[in-house]
Amino acid sequence: MDSQINIAMRALEFTETRCPRTRAKECSCSRVKSITESQQTTVAQCILEHSDKVKGTILLMQAPGTPTLVKGTITGLEPGPHGFHIHEFGDMSDGCKSMGGHYNPDDVDHGDLKEGHVGDLENVMADEKGVAKFSIVAPRVDLMGDRSVIGRGIVVHEDEDDLGKGGDAESLKTGNAGERLACGVIVARSEEMVEAHGGKHTTSGRSMTKGEKSKREKIVKGMKKDKAGFKKRYGKDAEAVMYATATKQAMK
Ligand code: CU
Ligand code: ZN
Repeated sequence: MDSQINIAMRALEFTETRCPRTRAKECSCSRVKSITESQQTTVAQCILEHSDKVKGTILLMQAPGTPTLVKGTITGLEPGPHGFHIHEFGDMSDGCKSMGGHYNPDDVDHGDLKEGHVGDLENVMADEKGVAKFSIVAPRVDLMGDRSVIGRGIVVHEDEDDLGKGGDAESLKTGNAGERLACGVIVARSEEMVEAHGGKHTTSGRSMTKGEKSKREKIVKGMKKDKAGFKKRYGKDAEAVMYATATKQAMK
């Protein structure tokens, strides 16, 4: 009896603090819904963490009815191929371990971009300097709709992914890609950021007044107190996001 209550309490705790769909800290389900309904190009990003050596930023883009483009650079790798996947959970509570297996909504064996787990992105290839630059067209990966990978995780592995052709049981599960070197959660890029990149710093089509500009400066100053938080979420776009958000607020 005691243990049952315990389990129920733990389950409650779990649903309260994490997204049930992806186990990500931040539940982006309503966000995904609005993205899906907006029928615009969706942009998401993933910053790799949990390694002192391996770093990377990955962008994911999808226009309605088209494949998702997965683009990025990973540094600090050993030269050669490294397994690269979308994992089921955006849960980093136990580092890369808690991200679960490859995202596999169809319950099939591990494979490649065409067949296999939806999360199978094959390999990224690191050059002699340990840098992997890649641009992967992933026809089965979605940012919109029920199968959106927003909130899920990306993992880069130590070894080459054999794409399910290794001839053993593990090959059909993980591609024998070995240790999880670094990982990150896929997050939707905010409207503010898209706006910032489009250079549109106005909300109503008019220019800012002097008063609004100084108000914006004050807001940005306040935001900079949480510079680390912004950096973590938006990487090198942090400042642009601050300005775009502050512009909106100042012009209200
Ligand atoms: Cu993986
Ligand atoms: Zn797989």
